[in-house]
Amino acid sequence: MKTIFSGIQPSGVIHLGNYIGAMKQFIELQNEYNCYFCIVDEHAITVPQDRLQLRKNIRSLAAFYIAVGIDPSKATLFIQSEVPAHAQAGWMLQCVSYIGELERMTQFKDKSAGKEAVSAGLLTYPPLMAADILLYSTDLVPVGEDQTQHLELTRDLAERFNKKYLEIFTLPEISLPKSGARVMSLQDPKKKMSKSDPNQKSFITLLDDPKQVEKKIKSAVTDSDGIVKYDKENKPGISNLLSIYSALGNQSIAELEAKYAGKNYGVFKTDLVEVVNNALKPIQDKYYQLIESDELDEILDEGAARANQVAGKMLKKMENAMGLGRKRKR
Ligand code: TYM
Repeated sequence: MKTIFSGIQPSGVIHLGNYIGAMKQFIELQNEYNCYFCIVDEHAITVPQDRLQLRKNIRSLAAFYIAVGIDPSKATLFIQSEVPAHAQAGWMLQCVSYIGELERMTQFKDKSAGKEAVSAGLLTYPPLMAADILLYSTDLVPVGEDQTQHLELTRDLAERFNKKYLEIFTLPEISLPKSGARVMSLQDPKKKMSKSDPNQKSFITLLDDPKQVEKKIKSAVTDSDGIVKYDKENKPGISNLLSIYSALGNQSIAELEAKYAGKNYGVFKTDLVEVVNNALKPIQDKYYQLIESDELDEILDEGAARANQVAGKMLKKMENAMGLGRKRKR
């Protein structure tokens, strides 16, 4: 069975972009792959975090993973910092990374722009992400489009390591969703939907109640020609809403265009509100039931144990390839 790895940062709310771009793929793929889904808390501390809030967010993200439909008996769900091999392998991969290539990462450029004090961790974020993926001999990484460059770097680092040391790493492929690989802001559809956006109306979180969802969708920016048609360049707002509708309503964009031909945006938006709320309701019910339960801790304990076993083996291979430590008798 082939292997999947993916991670999400516990750095605040989980929004529709995370769900449509990444999590929906996880659920669809978990039956066909050996899956590892990670709460990447070590990535989250590349920017300042409040310690108590971070702890809360980690637990909350674990509950979301299960609430959206990850089955912990099939997939391994774990917290990155509970598997020390990630940080160790991350260090080794930093030593095969070039500063220049890390400085060229668009996410680094975006997140560091205009800031006086930028942590070194923000720069060395991608080799840690590469470690996450490579430790599990991952074949496929389901993510949103914004992670493409990180994936390319992961493949470059794996290839470089394989050539320079020993051929131990599998080169992972990226998996993007058919619809919603880049969910855009509801307020500025030329910008990615992002949890760091100060405008709360620009994103829908998985915990928004029906009234909030309605308000946000009704105030989503569209255009003035009133035709429900997908045209990313000229009609980015309605195109974004069509992608969301398509992903959550399981209808193709073409079917939706036909369904709303001759109808105005008001009708389309009213139906979209219902589609989004119907998708969120079961997730929220399950989330609130899980968040207080001990079940979550058991799942994360088991996940960490399984992940430690697999990652520990690859870490040994990496140490051997690079000549770290001593050769030990078995
Ligand atoms: P993060 O936490 O920013 O986002 C988690 C996942 O959500 C996707 N995503 C989106 N997809 C579509 N539209 C959007 N507006 C949108 N916003 C976010 C992201 O593409 C991602 O799949 N570096 C990663 C975390 C990570 C990781 C890994 C991922 C660390 N190690 C190993 C895969 C494999 C990140 O910051 O994702």
